[in-house]
Amino acid sequence: MASTSAPSPSEASAPTTDTHHTQSQNSPALNNNNKDYDLSTPIDPNNSVGGLRQNLTSYGDAHFSLFMRKLFIKAMGYSEDALSRPIIGIVNTYSSFNPCHANMPQLMDAVKRGVQLNGGLAIDFPTISLHESFASPTSMYLRNLMSMDTEEMILAQPVDAVVLIGGCDKTTPAQLMGGISANKPIIHLVTGPMMPGSFQGTRVGACTDCRNNWAKFRAGTLDMEDMAALNEELAPTSGTCGVMGTASTMACLLVALGLMPLSLPSATAPAVSSARLRVAEHTGALAVQLSQSQLKPQDLLTCESFLNAITVLQAIGGSTNAIVHLMAIINRHPSLAGTISLKTIDDIGRKTPLLVDLKPSGNNYMTDFHNAGGMLALLHQLRPLLHLDALTVTGRTLGEELDSIPFRPLPSGTELGQIIHPLSSPLYPSSSLIVFDPSISNLCPLGGAVIKASASKYRRLLQHRGQAVVFHGPADLARRIDSPDLNVTPDSVLILQHIGPVGLHSPGMPEAGMIPIPRKLALQGVEDMLRISDGRMSGTAGGTIVLHVSPEAADPESVLGVVRDGDWVVCDVEGRRLNVALSGEEIEKRKRERREGMKKGFSKEEEEKGNWQKREGMRGYRGLYMREVNQADEGADFGFLTAAGPKGKGKGEVKGEGGGEGAK
Ligand code: FES
Repeated sequence: MASTSAPSPSEASAPTTDTHHTQSQNSPALNNNNKDYDLSTPIDPNNSVGGLRQNLTSYGDAHFSLFMRKLFIKAMGYSEDALSRPIIGIVNTYSSFNPCHANMPQLMDAVKRGVQLNGGLAIDFPTISLHESFASPTSMYLRNLMSMDTEEMILAQPVDAVVLIGGCDKTTPAQLMGGISANKPIIHLVTGPMMPGSFQGTRVGACTDCRNNWAKFRAGTLDMEDMAALNEELAPTSGTCGVMGTASTMACLLVALGLMPLSLPSATAPAVSSARLRVAEHTGALAVQLSQSQLKPQDLLTCESFLNAITVLQAIGGSTNAIVHLMAIINRHPSLAGTISLKTIDDIGRKTPLLVDLKPSGNNYMTDFHNAGGMLALLHQLRPLLHLDALTVTGRTLGEELDSIPFRPLPSGTELGQIIHPLSSPLYPSSSLIVFDPSISNLCPLGGAVIKASASKYRRLLQHRGQAVVFHGPADLARRIDSPDLNVTPDSVLILQHIGPVGLHSPGMPEAGMIPIPRKLALQGVEDMLRISDGRMSGTAGGTIVLHVSPEAADPESVLGVVRDGDWVVCDVEGRRLNVALSGEEIEKRKRERREGMKKGFSKEEEEKGNWQKREGMRGYRGLYMREVNQADEGADFGFLTAAGPKGKGKGEVKGEGGGEGAK
């Protein structure tokens, strides 16, 4: 159609007597416009020039596709001049169900200002938004969907660089997973942490204090009026949880990975601060720079970038959830998938001390970390442990950034001077996050398990032997945990099965791993017990809690799935061993019995136990998720989304040092 009716280039640029039109004809923008309709110059469908010509909609005629694209976007009032600029996509994850992203409109305005002051054209577009408390059954169940949405929208639309604005726990990992897979230049911007509130003269903040105070309520030391008052104060402003939970952890890791700038407090500036808006404006400016450098995430992110991120994760006592996210992110990267494993995280932990005194490992809030210098101060402290030649979004290395932005440590006598400890006087000597070695741990024999040792309340439990009290899923837990008849002592080991990636009722590794202390023990003042599950816990939670046991209990091959009440469980954090004291023969016998039970089918009451088998026939996203999700040690991603693709393992190589010793 276009080839027969479109004017020739000379006709399109013919002079006219209309004065205004004549001026326009002479503008560079319109000359460019004419080139767009020059049928004698082919438009490469895999155009690398950028702007509107990239990723054209397929109408079978590239010139017509471009003509259509331009005429439609002009309906929004854009001029030829605007459309000739580098296009910076801004991912808008605003949702009225997501208070962690409530400042999104102001952030987008500030990003656009930064883009447009630097000669770019900012165009925002929406993707899925996820909030922890507004995602059923779990936000983790939807993380991979959000990553697919992000990847495909980046690929589908004509963007020269993208600003990914996220904040709440699963959003930034989903965006980075999608961003790496799409492999167009990206820069992250987080919404920033919320401010702390106040209850009876004490600072409180989501969500460590949500959980602590709920435990006190269960133990009878707070009443309903107290809880109503707390409910007003725990999230007093917009922004992400104000402690070192998953959102804050991921924000710090994005700086360590070089995906957010160091020159401004990009990880820690509060959501409601003017500093946050300046970070946003600067991010817009850097995005224009990225559109020109075309520094893509698969080139920017190297093995060293991730080793830096893991060092920071250990030094901040970060969320255990970040381990799952990091594995998923790494396994999206074609040249890094399989080269960094859970063992890498443990190895780095052995030489990295905990430096940041924030809840849940310590006592303070993100605003304190921000006021103490935030990530700039921390990275200067960690400098001897970092790979300084790793690249950042500015195009300079981490070392060059640190050299150009010095930080003078605060006096140690001051309150703020205590927030970020020097390497010479850490808060915890090493290994705030520990990975159990699967080769010597019969409870997690394939993928291992993790524990945040620095958040243990009773450190004696890090070396512990106790008898199992087993709950077969969240419903069973809710039914029996507070029963006066529960056969439990403070030395018992609480085990919760069936909250893994596939699970029983709620796929997506529910954050139920912080099993509540049985009420009758809580009333006696017990505040911590050894707890083990295949699920996750909130990054804001604390206690002696083993998580992400792999393979999960729903898997017929799982050992966790055949542990019974009264079995002796041995946890040796120092030795990285997590075992149930059963012989190999007994474990195999129990697994055999379980498989036979599964074959026979389930009673109506037990029907959901068959989810592992029934997933083959499930429809929709639920079916896709249940069939494709991999285990926690691989990142709980979909196999077909990993760099290795559907047939590859997409899995980090987990090597143990001891080698197959089995139960001790
Ligand atoms: Fe959004 Fe905690 S609920 S960061």
